[in-house]
This record gives sequence, structure tokens and C-alpha cells, in this order.
Amino acid sequence: MSFLSSTPHLHITTWVIALVLFFIAALASKKLTGVHMALRVMYILIIISGGALFLEWRDKIPESGMNYDMKVLFGILVIGFMEMVLVRKGKGKSVNLFWILFAVALLVTLYLGLSMGIGMNF
Ligand code: HEM
Repeated sequence: MSFLSSTPHLHITTWVIALVLFFIAALASKKLTGVHMALRVMYILIIISGGALFLEWRDKIPESGMNYDMKVLFGILVIGFMEMVLVRKGKGKSVNLFWILFAVALLVTLYLGLSMGIGMNF
């Protein structure tokens, strides 16, 4: 399955598409059920592509084991907070707290992803 795990390109593609779909659904004035369903499919692809990277690289990159685990945890939190924003918005509940949690989790995830082993490294 090296096409999944030899580079992070597939993973990057999946989460970029997910973020675009999330912003479309979250900023729209009405409920966009189709976009939300497409976003949920992207969640699965993010987890498959990220999980493949994790299994391939976790033990190969010295010193980054714990950061790798944190990257997975925060990646899943980003997905969880996107879902919370959209579901609460759909029910007409307040979403401000979940926007903040989403933004923080996203920044931490981007930092951890981009500062580690493979792919782009800042
Ligand atoms: C929306 C959520 C997510 C975002 C924004 C995100 C973002 C990123 C970024 C920016 C990178 C670095 C790519 C590069 O080095 O060029 C990356 C790599 C990675 N991601 Fe994610 N990710 C997300 C979700 C996940 C999930 C859910 C998992 C695990 C199931 C995961 C596992 C990984 C792994 C293992 C890497 C490789 C780290 C490395 O060595 O560079 N990610 N991700």
C-alpha cells in the first residue's frame, strides 16, 4: 500500500478538500446536507491516509514517536470539532467555543505535521 504511505500528498489532498467543504458548510446561511455528507466521506479518507502514514513512519523516525502520537490525536480532534460546529449550527445552538477549539486544534495539527519527519519540513 505504498501509494498511501510513501509520501503525505494523498493525506494533504484529503484534509485540504475537507477544510474547503467544512468552510463552505459552516459559513453558508442554510443547512448544506450534501456538503456535510461529502465532508464525512473525507473524514474517513483523512483517517485512512493519516493512519497509513502513521503505521509506516511512526517507528522509523528517531525522536518523533510521541509527536507522531500527538499528531494523530490532534488530527482526530480537528475532525471532531468540525463535526461539532456543523451539527450544533444545524440545531441552532451556539458554535463560538467550537470554532475556537477547531482553530487551536488545527494550528497544533499543522505545526506537528509540518515539523515532523517526512514531507515538507519547516
Ligand atoms: C483535518 C485534520 C488533519 C490535518 C489538517 C492534518 C495535517 C497534516 C499535515 C500538515 C501534515 C504534514 C504533511 C507534510 O509533512 O508535508 C500531516 C502529516 C501526517 N498526518 Fe495529518 N492531518 C490531519 C488529520 C490526521 C489524522 C486523523 C491522522 C491519523 C489518523 C493523521 C496522521 C498524520 C501522519 C502520521 C502524518 C505524517 C507526519 C510526518 O512525518 O510528516 N493526520 N498531516
